[in-house]
Amino acid sequence: MGFSVRPRAATEFSVRPEGATEFIAMTERFYITTPIYYVNDVPHIGHAYTTLACDVMARFHRLNGDEVLFLTGTDEHGQKVEKAAAAAGQPPQTFVDGVSQNFRNLAKAMKYSNDDFIRTTEPRHIQASQALWKAIEASGNIYLGGYEGWYSVRDEAFYAEDELVAGPGGKKRAPTGADVEWVKEPSYFFKLSAWQDRLLEFYEKNPQAVQPESRRNEVISFVAGGLRDLSISRTSFSWGIPVPGAPDHIMYVWLDALANYLTEIDYPNGDKFNRFWPADVHVVGKDILRFHAVYWPAFLMAAGLEPPRRVFAHGWWTVEGEKMSKSLGNVVDPHEMIERYGLDPFRYFLLREVPFGNDGDFSQAALIQRINSDLANDLGNLFQRSLSMIQSYFAGLLPKPAHLSDADRSLIEQATKLHQAVGAAIGRQALHEALGEVWRIVGDANRYVDNERPWTVRKTDPVRAGTVLYVLAETVRHIALLLQPFMPDSASRMLDQLAVPADARTFAYCGVRGQLVSGVQLPKPEGIFPRYVVEEKGAA
Ligand code: ME8
Ligand code: MG
Repeated sequence: MGFSVRPRAATEFSVRPEGATEFIAMTERFYITTPIYYVNDVPHIGHAYTTLACDVMARFHRLNGDEVLFLTGTDEHGQKVEKAAAAAGQPPQTFVDGVSQNFRNLAKAMKYSNDDFIRTTEPRHIQASQALWKAIEASGNIYLGGYEGWYSVRDEAFYAEDELVAGPGGKKRAPTGADVEWVKEPSYFFKLSAWQDRLLEFYEKNPQAVQPESRRNEVISFVAGGLRDLSISRTSFSWGIPVPGAPDHIMYVWLDALANYLTEIDYPNGDKFNRFWPADVHVVGKDILRFHAVYWPAFLMAAGLEPPRRVFAHGWWTVEGEKMSKSLGNVVDPHEMIERYGLDPFRYFLLREVPFGNDGDFSQAALIQRINSDLANDLGNLFQRSLSMIQSYFAGLLPKPAHLSDADRSLIEQATKLHQAVGAAIGRQALHEALGEVWRIVGDANRYVDNERPWTVRKTDPVRAGTVLYVLAETVRHIALLLQPFMPDSASRMLDQLAVPADARTFAYCGVRGQLVSGVQLPKPEGIFPRYVVEEKGAA
């Protein structure tokens, strides 16, 4: 395949100059996407999670000076959505307009920094997906036939007999547990079977293209096990995008949905497409990995386009130990969590509690634990006591550092390296490790202040106490800069309290370039990370 190569550096976070003391205006492009969510239901923490992870990566790259495109949106066609509209007693378009709005409301409440919001019912998307169909068709990879077999509306997926499992009462079920029905209808097929070797070669040559590693292995063994041609049109209902030249067929909702990644960059037209394709990372849940890591690269290669640089599949949240489901009534509403605990603690918890890629359990006890220990105790105390001492011993004027001890130098050096350490973790989608790096410095800084005891030292040696407090302020500045992608509001309040100018908050200002200026008047410190107090049962 003769792919056009987008001129750009590697997928991996590229290391800025050593120590990041100077910033080189070297723009890289970074294109990241979330799945587009079905509008059959209101959003919950699972949906909030995927987009949050992408938001962190997008914000990190923007602060790094990169040109970022971060997309999310809603998947509005198909039988599942059509049925949900019927159940709501609404015409599909009215229904999808309403539910899609819920996802935009969530984006606002979570403060996602997405650059666009794609809806698959928009004309621009209909054009892009039909163009993709035509390109695949022109390559000879589509033929007309008839589908007879199992289909799951909940999964919007075709299943072979041997993939099914026995459900309650011996009823056949999809491997996901979803109901299946027997479908028989005329259908266009994609020659997926012809792509087996080329897919295996693609995974082989691009070990980073499907991650984490365990997921990549699953994908490879699935493909190595043999691929059947894929039904890519439906004729038994009409809520979808017409197949070009065959309007009695609508496109299979997954082909329609995957094409959204091309819609915003104006496929099949030139400039923006050439600048941003291939996508750097498609972040998805493990439930939809096969669509993204098998079907999608095959569709793209058939259309003569380059496959995405990476598909990263994260794990699954349960809630208080149980599968989240409407029937169990335990679906967690992110708006409620924001209301109760605050946005940044909620964002922090989701990203810190579980290694990105693993399954995890959402519990409010664990969330409260994180708020009180990591945020209030570790970070909040460090910040608060450092700034309070500057306020009370130096009238809020940032002291001037004198001679730097080994301990001073070592802490500053660690803080200065934080940008690079966090960037390296983010380049591997190891978001929990990125936070781990920040908290390592928080721990170092807390130990440093305990050892240096500026509250005692200042009585005999105010110059030394001033030096310690300056070192702490500088360390906390780095912490706040690097926390911006994760907890944007709290980080911005921290930087306000350190009197860091609004235009000195990008990662270009990590290191010497952004150093705090002694003598600057700091505002009166205010607590940013309050403890969460659980009300005693029976308390008035
Ligand atoms: O699959 N834990 O949309 P969808 C973690 N429209 N993540 C979860 C989750 C949970 N319990 N529940 C949902 C679709 N998610 C298609 C996608 S893309 C071209 C088309 C997240 O509304 C996770 O990202 O069913 C999962 O992959 C996605 O929501 C599924 O959203
Ligand atoms: Mg789903």
